[in-house]
Amino acid sequence: MRKPFVVANWKMHKNVAESVAFINQIKDQLPAKEEVEVGIAGTTLALHAMAAAADQTDIQIVAQNAFTEFEGAYTGEISPKALADSGVDYVLLGHIERRTMFNENNTMVNKKVVATLQAGMTPIICTDETMMQEEHGGSIHYVFAQLKDVLCDVSFDQIKNIIISYEPSWAVGAGQFANPLLAEEGCRQIRQTIADRYSYEVADKIRILYGGSVNPDNIAELMSKRDIDGVLIGRASLDADNFVSMVKTVQ
Ligand code: G3P
Repeated sequence: MRKPFVVANWKMHKNVAESVAFINQIKDQLPAKEEVEVGIAGTTLALHAMAAAADQTDIQIVAQNAFTEFEGAYTGEISPKALADSGVDYVLLGHIERRTMFNENNTMVNKKVVATLQAGMTPIICTDETMMQEEHGGSIHYVFAQLKDVLCDVSFDQIKNIIISYEPSWAVGAGQFANPLLAEEGCRQIRQTIADRYSYEVADKIRILYGGSVNPDNIAELMSKRDIDGVLIGRASLDADNFVSMVKTVQ
């Protein structure tokens, strides 16, 4: 059975002190790691201090981005090797906000996936679709195309550890969340894509997360769906008590 994974994506919120205080506030309230895995995607500046605060706990530290190279003349970029050395465990790659606001494309995301794996961290590959695609029934084909390009040189051994998220753009950061049936269908079709590309055994093992306006009112129903193995939570994860209550809902 796939272990549930609850990931807070703080985006550009919380400074270093607030990030560390959050981890210290929740670390003794979480269920055992055998029941549910918990990850916190803080801002880059806070990750090293977060990893130190999370040491001796089961909290996984998640970066929100990484570059394609370990080092070099890339002003402002984030080295995957430096992230790994700072205690980062997972990296969100290809998030819709990076695609829409910073022109990230599938080729760039693929290179970031390869570099993240080479640095010894686990990519969380974000896929997305627009309402236009959803309404015109083409949505999942858009997601297929993303995965085809982003996974083009990811081997059988590598894919087993990779996590994929399904974040319909019309549900991210909005008041409107994808109803659980739509959320499940997106995750199910992603799993089918992995089965077609790799094997049913691999597809049955990898974890697929849903992201898009997850909150305490809808997390239980979302997590009751067979093909939803976890969630990526934005706004609702910023409050520690809210976040702990959502994690406990999942266990
Ligand atoms: O990565 C998850 C995030 O984009 C979802 O944001 O605020 O809709 O929960 P939000």
